[in-house]
Amino acid sequence: MSLSDHIDKNRLPEHIAIIMDGNGRWAQLHGEMRIFGHQNGVSAVRATTEACAELGVRFLTLYAFSTENWARPQHEVDALMELLVETIRKEMGTLVENRIRLRAIGNISSLPAKCQRELAEAIHDTHHHKGLTLILALNYSSRWELTEVMKKLALNVQDGLLSVSDITETTIAEALDTSDYPDPELMIRTSGEQRLSNYLLWQLAYAELYFTPVLWPDFDKEDLYQAIVDFQKRERRFGKTSEQVKVI
Ligand code: FPP
Repeated sequence: MSLSDHIDKNRLPEHIAIIMDGNGRWAQLHGEMRIFGHQNGVSAVRATTEACAELGVRFLTLYAFSTENWARPQHEVDALMELLVETIRKEMGTLVENRIRLRAIGNISSLPAKCQRELAEAIHDTHHHKGLTLILALNYSSRWELTEVMKKLALNVQDGLLSVSDITETTIAEALDTSDYPDPELMIRTSGEQRLSNYLLWQLAYAELYFTPVLWPDFDKEDLYQAIVDFQKRERRFGKTSEQVKVI
């Protein structure tokens, strides 16, 4: 019996965001180098992506590399970039088979050229897919994204294209990297850490947060189902009272 049987397919979160944490600790537990954890994290990426596609979740955003991750030892950064290129190449079959559309958010133009090329090609080759949209957050951080938005809007005001009184939540949301996607309703972080770590701070304003002690390489389809079952038990009030949201 799978936990997926307990999921109400009519009340799925439309967009799930994940912080894939714990690769380094997983590797350490297995007496291996950190990169071994990242390599094994790829199977969890595949399982989670497939499970979302099978269920009918529309958007999945994965925090694959933060702007802060550049501070890691150079050999780990290089290995992560290499793994990214390799994974995109190897997983094209999974993307095609499941009709998954690949997208990316973050400061992509500062990634190594090889990474940018591989990513651009995969995004292009999957742009017509109508299934799950898989969004990789790469060289991403919320503060970077929000700073870029502020610069963009300030320039528009300076150039007379926008007046300050026209700046609304919608104007800001439309200037974010995530403007094409609805806000995530569920945010999952693995490895027991309970932080947002500069991830989608604007977009997660009303998201349900789910923390699991499972280390990312061990995260499988059943762990995802468990998070969705938990999500469906919660009452989402958006500032209203419990009585108000119960009125149909
Ligand atoms: C966090 O664990 C994980 C990362 C910074 C990298 C995630 C990358 C992958 C799962 C591989 C490739 C992904 C894609 C989408 C192609 P950590 O290293 O911070 O773990 P620790 O906290 O235990 O040290």
